[in-house]
Amino acid sequence: MPKLTIRQWPLPVETGRSTVLDAALSSGVPFPHGCRTGECGSCKSLLLSGDVSMANYDHEVLTDAERSAGFILACRAKPHCDVHVSWLGGSVSVDLPTVRMSAQVTNVEQVSPTVKRLYVWPQKTLQFAAGQFARLRFQNLPARAYSMANMPGEEALEFHVRLIPGGAVSDHIAEELNVGDTIEVEGPFGNAHLRPEDNGPLVLIAGSSGLAPAKSIIRTALRSQPDRYVHLYFGVRSEAHIYDESELQVLASRHQNFTVETVLSEPGGQTDRRAGLLPNILAADLAHHTTAQFYMAGPPEMVEAVSKVVSDFGISRDQIHADPFHTSGNSDDGETQTKQPGRFLSGFSKLFPLGRIRQKSKKQTDKEGKSVHEAAE
Ligand SMILES: Cc1cc2nc3c(=O)[nH]c(=O)nc-3n(C[C@H](O)[C@H](O)[C@H](O)COP(=O)(O)OP(=O)(O)OC[C@H]3O[C@@H](n4cnc5c(N)ncnc54)[C@H](O)[C@@H]3O)c2cc1C
Ligand code: FES
Repeated sequence: MPKLTIRQWPLPVETGRSTVLDAALSSGVPFPHGCRTGECGSCKSLLLSGDVSMANYDHEVLTDAERSAGFILACRAKPHCDVHVSWLGGSVSVDLPTVRMSAQVTNVEQVSPTVKRLYVWPQKTLQFAAGQFARLRFQNLPARAYSMANMPGEEALEFHVRLIPGGAVSDHIAEELNVGDTIEVEGPFGNAHLRPEDNGPLVLIAGSSGLAPAKSIIRTALRSQPDRYVHLYFGVRSEAHIYDESELQVLASRHQNFTVETVLSEPGGQTDRRAGLLPNILAADLAHHTTAQFYMAGPPEMVEAVSKVVSDFGISRDQIHADPFHTSGNSDDGETQTKQPGRFLSGFSKLFPLGRIRQKSKKQTDKEGKSVHEAAE
């Protein structure tokens, strides 16, 4: 049976027929990982010796040049012989078991012209870290990723779904989903979660339904550290698209260290709020946030532009955490939410070579931020 040796771990691990990642995790090794399906790059590793075969993966996450240079994705790599690897990921994921279970929809609410809030009651409490997501399957539609907006430990799961016209799951949620429906929940997934070991300032940048993971992170952080500095930028198109404002204001009134700024991309007249695009607004403020951990969520173009602004400012990659809402296109595989390698931004994977951030491709954000603007609602 091939043996796996990991540079950062003292003992070799038996691999059997499993992947490098599965073998490591089942032996209790805290191997960095995220999607487990070759799409996020969190498990990217250097193959120091031996040989592996690689199952399907996203070639934007692990480029052919990297593969030739000896890099592998541990979640897709099956050893043929004894192998020695070194993981690249700087931060180790929370290692919660992934479960699949049924859940009942207990509330469906239109909270803005484009966003619906769902509450679902799973068979048993889903363990997750604030900022993570689950895959939801409605009837026989393909599973889609949605981030939890509730805090870990709360029984009812809260999701915010931005309704994409013509989207398979969006249309179902918009038109057919009813209270009492049974759905399937699988999770948790994702690396853009609140780090338990970190207690510094937090800056959250949420575009539209990206407010969901931001809310979970904010409430969780403030519950354990009520005096922690937390700053939220919530970007929406116009006044009509703002939601959950009073809830956030209540939180801000209890925690003077928590600030909410709602940013309107198309105010449509005089406003007291900040107006503009999130990347530009954030760029103007970055000097105040240099020591913060940045969590960003929402449309991929927005996440890309915001991440670039933060990174260009000289803020370390380790301070940036994001799971962009990469859209799943017409994928009907029913299992994973992102199966279209061509949709990722190659330039962006260079910016974040460890693949901490996955990006949608095609529309490069132009200088005026047009595509960011379009994506915000
Ligand atoms: C890690 C992760 C977390 C996510 N969390 C959330 C969340 O909390 N809330 C949320 O609302 N969504 C979230 N998403 C996105 C979500 O998983 C779905 O991709 C989204 O709801 C669209 O699914 P659909 O089936 O309705 O559309 P699909 O049938 O997949 O798409 C239909 C068509 O619309 C296009 N399209 C889809 N999205 C867009 C877009 N943004 N702009 C322009 N065209 C688009 C597609 O390219 C396709 O042609 C998340 C995605 C990921 C990867
Ligand atoms: S965990 Fe391997 S690519 Fe995401």
